[in-house]
Amino acid sequence: MPTDLRPRLHREVTSFVRRSARMRDSQRRAYEAQVGGIVLDVPQGALRTSVADDAAVLDLPATFGRTAPVVVEIGCGPGDSLVPMARARPEIDVLAFEVFEPAAAALVARAVREDVSNVRVAPVDAVAGLERLVPAGGLAEVWTFFPDPWPKLKHHKRRLIDPAFADLVASRLRPGGLWRLATDWAEYADQMRAVVGGHPAFVAEPEERGDRPVTRFERRGLAEDRAIADLVYRRVA
Ligand SMILES: C[S@@+](CC[C@H](N)C(=O)[O-])C[C@H]1O[C@@H](n2cnc3c(N)ncnc32)[C@H](O)[C@@H]1O
Repeated sequence: MPTDLRPRLHREVTSFVRRSARMRDSQRRAYEAQVGGIVLDVPQGALRTSVADDAAVLDLPATFGRTAPVVVEIGCGPGDSLVPMARARPEIDVLAFEVFEPAAAALVARAVREDVSNVRVAPVDAVAGLERLVPAGGLAEVWTFFPDPWPKLKHHKRRLIDPAFADLVASRLRPGGLWRLATDWAEYADQMRAVVGGHPAFVAEPEERGDRPVTRFERRGLAEDRAIADLVYRRVA
């Protein structure tokens, strides 16, 4: 375990709540057929979404079957960004963390349907996953698009983007690597600018959406007249 991070492995406050993960039988069969393929077979801890204490760090070239720049997406949902972005950039490999199995299953179904081979999903908490499964200093990019906003003040402690998480992402990005974030909550965008922009390991790049497609979460924000913020930070050497 890295020594430069506040221990968060047994966090009581997570950025997600447990939800019933019912899937249609056909959806579950298609998902389970990909365990060991697109779906990484991560040794779980006490909870379905946790990572076992003795889980080994991933061998990323073995995981993807080649050596390529690796991008991690945190909370990919059904893959509305991930699948088109991975398809458009066949030179990268994308590892996603998603705790909600039906969303991970939708991502898997789409990747199979569209024959996108440079995608893997680990159905566990991204914080534990980054800490335990992802080697330090090697990622080309991290994407955090529309993390749950937890708008009520009493729930702000559940927000993913905080100083400890910025430390963790900084430790996993290679120098020069990018952290791309998007949100439709202006006040969460301000929190991201304060936390990541104020972090010594990151410098702000121009705010732009780049190749990020519109997702259903973004559409909901737009329908409710919320402005979209796309933030980009570079990991300094
Ligand atoms: C609001 S949705 C956004 C999904 C997607 N990024 C998009 O833009 O369409 C947030 C997603 O993050 C997932 N999530 C929240 N906290 C997580 C965590 N700690 N680890 C992995 N996934 C997480 C949720 O299950 C949910 O699917």
